[in-house]
Amino acid sequence: MDIGAAMLILLVTCVSCLLLFLNGKDQKNKGRLPPGPRPLPILGNLLQLDTKDIVQSLHTLSERYGPVFTIHLGLRPCVVLCGYQAVKEALVDQVEEFSARGDVPMIFRFTQGNGISLTNGEKWTVLRRFAVQTLRKFGMGKRSLEERIQEEARCLVQELAQTQAAPFDPTFLISRATSNVICSIIFGNRFDYEDRNFLTFVGLINQIFHLLSSPWGQMYNLFPGPMSYLPGPHNRILETFEQLGLFVSEKVKMHQESFDPNCPRDFIDCFLLRMEQENQDPLSYFHMETLVMTTHNLLLGGTETVSTTLRSGFLILMKYPEIQAKVQAEIDRVIGRHRSPSVEDRAHMPYTDAVIHEVQRFSDVLPAALPHAVTRDTQFRGFLLPEGTNVIPLLFSVHKDPTQFKDPATFDPAHFLDERGGFRKNDAFMPFSAGKRVCLGKGLARMELFLFFTTILQRFTLTPLTRPEEIDISPLMSGLVTVPRPYEFHAVPR
Ligand code: HEM
Repeated sequence: MDIGAAMLILLVTCVSCLLLFLNGKDQKNKGRLPPGPRPLPILGNLLQLDTKDIVQSLHTLSERYGPVFTIHLGLRPCVVLCGYQAVKEALVDQVEEFSARGDVPMIFRFTQGNGISLTNGEKWTVLRRFAVQTLRKFGMGKRSLEERIQEEARCLVQELAQTQAAPFDPTFLISRATSNVICSIIFGNRFDYEDRNFLTFVGLINQIFHLLSSPWGQMYNLFPGPMSYLPGPHNRILETFEQLGLFVSEKVKMHQESFDPNCPRDFIDCFLLRMEQENQDPLSYFHMETLVMTTHNLLLGGTETVSTTLRSGFLILMKYPEIQAKVQAEIDRVIGRHRSPSVEDRAHMPYTDAVIHEVQRFSDVLPAALPHAVTRDTQFRGFLLPEGTNVIPLLFSVHKDPTQFKDPATFDPAHFLDERGGFRKNDAFMPFSAGKRVCLGKGLARMELFLFFTTILQRFTLTPLTRPEEIDISPLMSGLVTVPRPYEFHAVPR
């Protein structure tokens, strides 16, 4: 054996011993985590996970390890919660303990713990409260949120009418419409659908969601250290985040130039006002960087989630034209063809309401929420989760829970209807998650979904380019976000 080979063997042996030692030490610090598949050093449970469909892999593992188990994402142990009961016991019954945010290395690389979505502690509480109050303020202001969405839905309808029922891929148009709603709250204005800057901006958000859900994105989340040195598409995530950040910074600068503290026009102005009020307070959380990150969070959270739900919904309604026809019949009966749908109508439209709920259940836009963490050492189902342990509430598994939904694999609005055709609530409906981290834009998203769905179906029948039976409603990919398959439709005027 030459000296080089001997050195190599020695090195490998030393590294292995070190890893075993660290792994053993790690085990001691683990409290008493639920059992799960045995992890390999460094790789964790990578071999048990399909990076193209991590959510399904976790669901499958729960069949073997039960509703609460531990999975190692690289070196990081995470407790996975499967099914309604386990998720509810954690996020709702032990609301305080499970309210911290866990690690999303891919997003953290950009936010560095700033903003709302990946922040913890007092900073999170203060910024979240400010965002919720400001969103409410603009929802209840002179031009109410409902009016803004109605106006945007009318613009969307006009664009669809221009297609003259020719085959059309609605992806980008719908994203621009939903983005305009949140933009009008944050920036104080909507954009023309052909505005160049706006097109770039919506394109960036679209790319981010694709990259976050791609296998490369998943690999980055599992192994952030080594992956940040390796070339590959995952590095575009940071670039894309930064480009979006520059767009926001530019907008903030423009706001500063015309800022009037006596008359805040939108979210950015309200934030600037608060910065001004607290500029002598060294402990204030209201700074320029935080403004950019918070705005970034709201734009990201508010654009693709709603548009993806609408896109999935339209595809599903083309597969089931009889369901689309029933929704249209209800629209005709309650709203008619001549006035814009309003949020008040929802209470009189149980079938449409059930269809929208079922679309959200079935399409699972954020199938595993965002990772949570425990705020302190936490007893849960006889286990002990040390403070900071990451927790994955698998919302997908709640929506597929056979104890809560009669036929969870099937799209069926009856999951939300009682025997007399009235709307029936179901506590296992959790697309916005639950507990303290519940989606901050839930109210806005619900309004948008109802108004966009009804306004479009009031004016058009959506027909596919293939036979309905051939439509594949399974997702294109499912990672952090579930991305539906691309498609074209004919928007046929009614
Ligand atoms: C159909 C549309 C939407 C869905 C399905 C959705 C779903 C979710 C989910 C599952 C979470 C993670 C909750 C958790 O960690 O347990 C979340 C968080 C969040 N969402 Fe949404 N969301 C939607 C629309 C929106 C809109 C319109 C906005 C913007 C106003 C928004 C802003 C946020 C923010 C800022 C967070 C982070 C909250 C925090 O960490 O405290 N979302 N959303």
